[in-house]
Amino acid sequence: LAPTPTQTPNNEEKSLKELPKVRFWEAMDIFQWEGFWFEPNLIKAAITFRSNFQARDDDVLLASTMKTGTTWLKSLSLCIMQNKTHQKHDDDILTTENPHFHVPTIESMIYSTKALQVKLYDTSSPHLLHTHLPYAVLPNSVKNSNCKIVYIARNPKDTLISMWHFSNSIMRKNQDPFPLEKAVDCFCSGVDQYGPFFEHVVEYWQESQKRPQKILFIKYEELKSDPKVHVSKIAEFLGRPFEDEKEIDEVLWRCSLERLKNLDVNKSGSVLLNVPNTSFFRKGEVGDWKNYLTPEMEEQMNQLSRVKFEPFGLFF
Ligand code: A3P
Repeated sequence: LAPTPTQTPNNEEKSLKELPKVRFWEAMDIFQWEGFWFEPNLIKAAITFRSNFQARDDDVLLASTMKTGTTWLKSLSLCIMQNKTHQKHDDDILTTENPHFHVPTIESMIYSTKALQVKLYDTSSPHLLHTHLPYAVLPNSVKNSNCKIVYIARNPKDTLISMWHFSNSIMRKNQDPFPLEKAVDCFCSGVDQYGPFFEHVVEYWQESQKRPQKILFIKYEELKSDPKVHVSKIAEFLGRPFEDEKEIDEVLWRCSLERLKNLDVNKSGSVLLNVPNTSFFRKGEVGDWKNYLTPEMEEQMNQLSRVKFEPFGLFF
């Protein structure tokens, strides 16, 4: 499945040094590549992924930008793909490892030049993989094969607050939190990991409108408010429709935040380098931003949403 990470083409690697660079959150350098901002090792991984990956028609690629419900989507998709063979509680794969282990994020866990965190699984089909990369940089074989993509998007204000908590816990462990006002400015200016957020979402949204058989676009908020309907939609899209309501209830229960948060495998350890498994599970509430953003910050973000999303018929 994955070639060695050293296969990044040399000329592309050299040109990384010439990319625009900023100090993100006064903690790390991020670089602008193909219109988006990334840590340098992720750019190398993305280039290797784009040059080498051969999608199969039955592959499933989950996609998202950060903090939009990736862990939930990974868990749900895993259960959906395994539904027929793992009916009993005892067989629940979610109890054996964190969801990010079972559904690796391609650029940070397979093609990264940092230590490989996940043992590459066998080559039997279908593959269930994930990426935070923008649509434009996906390999042609992903775009042109029949492999399916499920993208999860989330309200920008909740995404930002989720990101603020997550990044503070990872990048500023023994320091005061990064000032929220500055975090809002970074997010709104697009200088954010895998940002600009709005363009990331719009790219997948537009593609899902053009090719609904290829890309399913779901919103975190809809999954929260009407989980049965939307999880069934995912299952049907993946060609694994549920047989009855009991199956749906079982999958939703297995993947509920409260349950996952309290599984031993998620209460300790770290599937991703320097990212404790606990950090993927927080509140999972819609509208938590109201507890943090000032009216000015709220307006700043609403204004941007109006400009960036509404012309495309996107509303959160
Ligand atoms: P909050 O920080 O708002 O609580 P990602 O998985 O993309 O990193 O997104 C993390 C967000 O999804 C966090 O939101 C986290 O609590 C929430 N989340 C994680 N697992 C979830 C689940 N099983 N159901 C609902 N939300 C979940």
